[in-house]
Amino acid sequence: MLKKRNWLLLLLYLSLPLSMNLNELNASTTDTDFDKIFQNHISLISNLHWTPLRIAFKALAWLTQKENAKILDVGSGIGKFCIIGAITTKAQFVGIEQRKNLVKISKKIIEKNSIPNTHFILGNFIDHNFETYTGIYLYNPFWENITNDILIDHKIPISSELFDTYNKTLSAKLSNLKQGTRVVTYLMREDEIPTCYSIIDAAFDSKLLLWERK
Ligand SMILES: C[S@@+](CC[C@H](N)C(=O)[O-])C[C@H]1O[C@@H](n2cnc3c(N)ncnc32)[C@H](O)[C@@H]1O
Repeated sequence: MLKKRNWLLLLLYLSLPLSMNLNELNASTTDTDFDKIFQNHISLISNLHWTPLRIAFKALAWLTQKENAKILDVGSGIGKFCIIGAITTKAQFVGIEQRKNLVKISKKIIEKNSIPNTHFILGNFIDHNFETYTGIYLYNPFWENITNDILIDHKIPISSELFDTYNKTLSAKLSNLKQGTRVVTYLMREDEIPTCYSIIDAAFDSKLLLWERK
């Protein structure tokens, strides 16, 4: 018979997610397996807030075709998109994220797994210069400003003014980028991207769109 203390240790062990080896990441990895690299409370909200693997692989195929591709994830969360990109492609990735606790998690993962071609910045995208990037990835970052759905936390105000300000700033930043710059949007409204961009490809019932600066 196991003693009470050993039962507790066994229960604790069983509740810990068994992390996958990130070097084994490929197109057949499931989100459930990948998300085990994050703590339980982070993986629980994964399907709502972080890019699913099959979406990430398609977006990466569109964004990393050019040599020397450098991709910005606007609102990088716990870094899932950049980490998948950094492991499976030769491109450079930068994630900018406003939540300190999420940036801490993403930095810890790249440090622990020695992933060199990505880094994460704590800040608001408003203050970040987009001009050195060949591609921008957007998983509906400002939606949390206008929804009552399950949120990451309650630190960000629900405000349609903030949503409008962010969209106007995003539009201005994207308009300033060079001809040929690629943008991939996931679950975003088409009117959030300025008219100087054209949609050149679509996937997953047009939930994922590839745009190019005219
Ligand atoms: C839907 S999640 C996407 C996370 C990540 N890009 C992914 O695909 O897995 C959107 C993220 O954008 C961040 N975000 C929203 N507005 C932001 C802003 N103004 N500046 C920086 N990050 C922002 C949120 O904190 C959240 O982590």
